[in-house]
Amino acid sequence: MKPFVSPSILAADFANMQRDIEMLNSSEADWIHVDIMDGVFVPNISFGFPVMKAVKQYATKPLDVHLMIVDPDRYLKAFKDAGADGIMVHYEACTHLHRTIQAIKDLGCRAGVALNPHTNVRLLEDVIADVEQVCVMSVNPGFGGQKFIHNTYKKIRELRTLAELHNPKLFIEIDGGVDVSNASKLIEAGANVLVAGSSVFSAHNPLDAISALKNTQPL
Ligand code: DX5
Ligand code: ZN
Repeated sequence: MKPFVSPSILAADFANMQRDIEMLNSSEADWIHVDIMDGVFVPNISFGFPVMKAVKQYATKPLDVHLMIVDPDRYLKAFKDAGADGIMVHYEACTHLHRTIQAIKDLGCRAGVALNPHTNVRLLEDVIADVEQVCVMSVNPGFGGQKFIHNTYKKIRELRTLAELHNPKLFIEIDGGVDVSNASKLIEAGANVLVAGSSVFSAHNPLDAISALKNTQPL
């Protein structure tokens, strides 16, 4: 099966957001990845509800919302109301992760957990059956355009093994430094959702860049 592609609008032109969303609408992208940063969990601030609502107004594809914020429980309903289809919280930001996952599901959203590069995938063993998506960060979250961390391949293989045991339908998403040079190897390792910010939006032809990711063949 072809991987899902979730371009990150963190790398879009914020002064031409409608144009860039319409480009994504007409592309082979499956989801639109929305990076929310609070300046506390990560050392950067991206954007909040008004921008997300504006994106939702034009987007015809589901919004894949990545919350890089502390205490996400406070805002889950607000993100649902702003148009989130899937909501991912960080393992490192949730004291009561099981409760948070249930709250996301109760809102009718796809529930996901994101892991920082240093967080071992085995820590998810007791919740993996409850989530629909795990996002393996292949950079330290906070900024687009960073260098891909090589240890990610090993984490994907371990997560795929865990998923085969407990949740074979799990979406395994990779976020950070993804481009056509590593996509095949990521899929070969067991990933099935590719997030791409700079490699899409800085491409000469973003539609072709998305298509190339969508049509990646495993090695
Ligand atoms: C990083 C964000 C990523 C980022 C990816 O904190 O979570 O989604 O936008 O950007 P690239 O593809 O440029 O690494
Ligand atoms: Zn992200």
